[in-house]
Amino acid sequence: MASKKREFDVVVWGATGFTGRLVAEYLCKHYGVGKDLRWAIGGRNQGKLEGLREGLGTVAAELPILLGDSADAPFLRSLAERTSVVCSTVGPYAKYGSDLVEACVTTGTSYCDLTGELQWIRRMMDRHQAAAAESGARIVHSCGFDCIPSDIGVFFLQSEMHARHGVPCSRIKYRVKAFSGGFSGGTAASMLEMMSELQSDAAVRKLMADPYALNPEGKRQGPDGADQVGPVFDDDFNSWTGPFVMAALNTRVVRRSAALLEELYGSDFRYDEAVLMGPGPLAAVKAAGMAAGLGGVLVAGAIGPLRRLLARALPKPGEGPSAKQREEGYFDIQLLGEHPRDKEKNLRAKVYGDRDPGYGSTAKMLGESAVCLALDSLEVEGGFWTTAAAMGEPLLARLNERAGVTFTLDG
Ligand SMILES: NC(=O)c1ccc[n+]([C@@H]2O[C@H](COP(=O)([O-])OP(=O)(O)OC[C@H]3O[C@@H](n4cnc5c(N)ncnc54)[C@H](OP(=O)(O)O)[C@@H]3O)[C@@H](O)[C@H]2O)c1
Repeated sequence: MASKKREFDVVVWGATGFTGRLVAEYLCKHYGVGKDLRWAIGGRNQGKLEGLREGLGTVAAELPILLGDSADAPFLRSLAERTSVVCSTVGPYAKYGSDLVEACVTTGTSYCDLTGELQWIRRMMDRHQAAAAESGARIVHSCGFDCIPSDIGVFFLQSEMHARHGVPCSRIKYRVKAFSGGFSGGTAASMLEMMSELQSDAAVRKLMADPYALNPEGKRQGPDGADQVGPVFDDDFNSWTGPFVMAALNTRVVRRSAALLEELYGSDFRYDEAVLMGPGPLAAVKAAGMAAGLGGVLVAGAIGPLRRLLARALPKPGEGPSAKQREEGYFDIQLLGEHPRDKEKNLRAKVYGDRDPGYGSTAKMLGESAVCLALDSLEVEGGFWTTAAAMGEPLLARLNERAGVTFTLDG
């Protein structure tokens, strides 16, 4: 485990980016500067970093700045040595993130990020799992809307099923009821980077199609099949459903948690995600339209010239939804946990976020994940974890109490 004696508890790396800035604002507002949480901001542009610090107000006048570049491995190592946790918002991660993960692994520094790049996560695990276990570095990818509502939502429902009935849910359904928000240039760039890898590398295509792509070796199979691609009527929710764009990563992360927390999730756990569209015939048409739209974006992203056209239409790095959109945004997700034998004992839960999912709520989820890794006493040692496996209960409490992301039983 990273030593408490390091100079900082948390460094927000990429603090000048659209999301990094929101994380810095969140930490400043909720933890102050130079108090219980010793934190710093880092990035490659001194002027921007100073501008950010100034914007945080006089309370942040002494907030330390670490200046360097993602391509400078010796700098990354020295950064990692100075802190217990690196919280990175520098993406696309496949392009800018690998040396930083290596620096954290080598120096026994814990790490969290916002990546949605499944192929890169697998690459990092394969390359560094043994060394992370050895050094004590706890690496936790995807601590934003990708994949906390799914991963901690399922952890919550499994814990409740155990507490009430002493068994795990045999299956959990995750259904997106409603959300409002936008997306940023960094997310667009990361999506396009992944599509480019998908186009050029058959091994990446095979990995993305594997429902157990992120499971540990020896546990890479189970009862779940391919993700939903078309409209399906779900009797449990009395609603048509369409495919959920983030299921491709969320489901893999939840299945990794199930493998790492087998005692809590059982050995035959099933999991899937979809978007609720409503009960009527129009909803069926909308679900089919959603499936076709998603397919269209994937096809466009896989074809070089179309991908370049798509890139021109998307937000640029540093851009993202306005303060008003973030403030008025929200997400509302419903989960159904099935008791293995008795339908009467099924449980329903709701995950609700009081800001837009991708930025307002994500910044709070990532900020609390970093603080949780730095300050809470966690049982796990070094290795590649998920939010549920590394931080389960303490993170759930932090999100409920501080971050406006609530996990409650429904009905
Ligand atoms: N899954 C989720 O829930 C979720 C939500 C939000 C974001 N994300 C992910 O988070 C990442 C960031 O998104 P964003 O919209 O915040 O991106 P952004 O605004 O483009 O910010 C990127 C940051 O990376 C920095 N950077 C780029 N190249 C660098 C280098 N060579 N050395 C040091 N720093 C460098 C930029 O510095 P400058 O300011 O100097 O350019 C900036 O601080 C993306 O991968 C996105 O997909 C995920």
